[in-house]
Amino acid sequence: MTQAKKLYIKTYGCQMNVYDSERMAEALGGQGYVETSSPEDADMILLNTCHIREKAAEKVYSELGRFKGLKAAKPELKIGVAGCVAQAEGEEIMRRQPMVDLVVGPQSYHRLPELEARAGAGQKALDTDFPVEDKFDHLSDRPKAKRGPTAFLTVQEGCDKFCAFCVVPYTRGAEVSRPAARVLAEARDLVERGVREITLLGQNVNAYHGAGPDGDWGLARLIRELAKIDGLERIRYTTSHPNDMGDDLIAAHGEVAELMPYLHLPVQSGSDRILKRMNRSHTAEQYLRLIERIRAARPDILLSGDFIVGFPEETEADFQATLALVEAVRYGQCYSFKYSPRPGTPAAERALVDEAEASERLQRLQALLSRQQAEIQAAMVGREVGVLFEKPGRLDGQLVGKSDHLHAVHAQAPEALLGRIARVKIVDSAPNSLAGVVLDA
Ligand code: SAH
Ligand code: SF4
Ligand code: F3S
Repeated sequence: MTQAKKLYIKTYGCQMNVYDSERMAEALGGQGYVETSSPEDADMILLNTCHIREKAAEKVYSELGRFKGLKAAKPELKIGVAGCVAQAEGEEIMRRQPMVDLVVGPQSYHRLPELEARAGAGQKALDTDFPVEDKFDHLSDRPKAKRGPTAFLTVQEGCDKFCAFCVVPYTRGAEVSRPAARVLAEARDLVERGVREITLLGQNVNAYHGAGPDGDWGLARLIRELAKIDGLERIRYTTSHPNDMGDDLIAAHGEVAELMPYLHLPVQSGSDRILKRMNRSHTAEQYLRLIERIRAARPDILLSGDFIVGFPEETEADFQATLALVEAVRYGQCYSFKYSPRPGTPAAERALVDEAEASERLQRLQALLSRQQAEIQAAMVGREVGVLFEKPGRLDGQLVGKSDHLHAVHAQAPEALLGRIARVKIVDSAPNSLAGVVLDA
């Protein structure tokens, strides 16, 4: 019997990369690879990379440097780079790191087995095309193994919005939606394998418009049909753009019980002047009105967002407008970043805000966001929530999972509750998690 080859994948960046890494592991499974958690054992190392900020991209080069010794000790080891850095800097990676054997962009993953074979034959393999065929059509042969209770499912990829700071439209390409029937089939398959919660993914997921049996379906229709799948108990989606938040999707939040009361809706800034320079095509006021309508449909919805501080030309007054917007919304959880110029994007040409000033603003924003998060978490104490238990906790007899509002919750619970949703009473709140007591299973 030939021994299985070992594959080590390291994933950076967004949830779509997590999903893509699973699909790549499956595709290479067909080539006789099994996954390993240690790079030392691997016959192939694959870095699935992110290009969103400069630091994210630099990590790839330092990580590659660390594998130099491994490659020297084991010349037949194959090293591959996938993801958004591969797409943006494919040729340069090969130049800067000659030990890299294989580079594959996000739209070419279905060609991975062929690229692996070429690398195996001692050739350099690079594919950063945007092919016309749908990679998902070629990546749909999944092994039927059982899996954990939560899963990601990509329904839409790419972006046509071209925010002035963002590389995604260049690395992921134009907006494409998968046909509804394919999404439904993949969801049914996941549920058969034990999945109870699916997070629909897309760079602009609420712009979804996949072909359905009776014309194009929007995200709201897709969610309503997914909710009919027996055994699928929770649906989430991410990431959304404010301009694509249609009435039907807002209504679904009030009507579809399986659609969880949590929404990631990035706004980036609270200043209309900066929003305009970011090419966001909405104002702060429009965003606030939108939040009002969403809350009218689902009053207990928890909102999350992304912010960029120190965008070119951002003044203290612009930044104050961001703080004011945060005060007005009250977010349950947020991501915030210092602006990082990305080569090839329009904003990269503009003068930077003073570094120390930008860092100081980021600290002030994060202090406000943390305070809001802590207040909202503390307000959960005493409430009863649904928790989907995903894995054992740190303490004996403890399980951890996520509440409907996506809070991490731990509780003493029998192992039989793994993969199931239990009613839990929240009894305590810490900065990043809640403690609960199981009421019934
Ligand atoms: N598709 C998502 C965004 C993906 S990037 C969306 O439209 O919301 C995730 C977040 O990274 C963005 O929302 C933004 O806040 C941040 N980001 C993107 N480009 C950035 C840059 N050049 N510098 C700093 N943060 C950036
Ligand atoms: Fe990037 Fe803007 Fe598209 Fe989001 S909407 S992926 S921030 S260009
Ligand atoms: Fe990063 Fe690409 Fe995702 S740049 S955030 S991995 S789409």
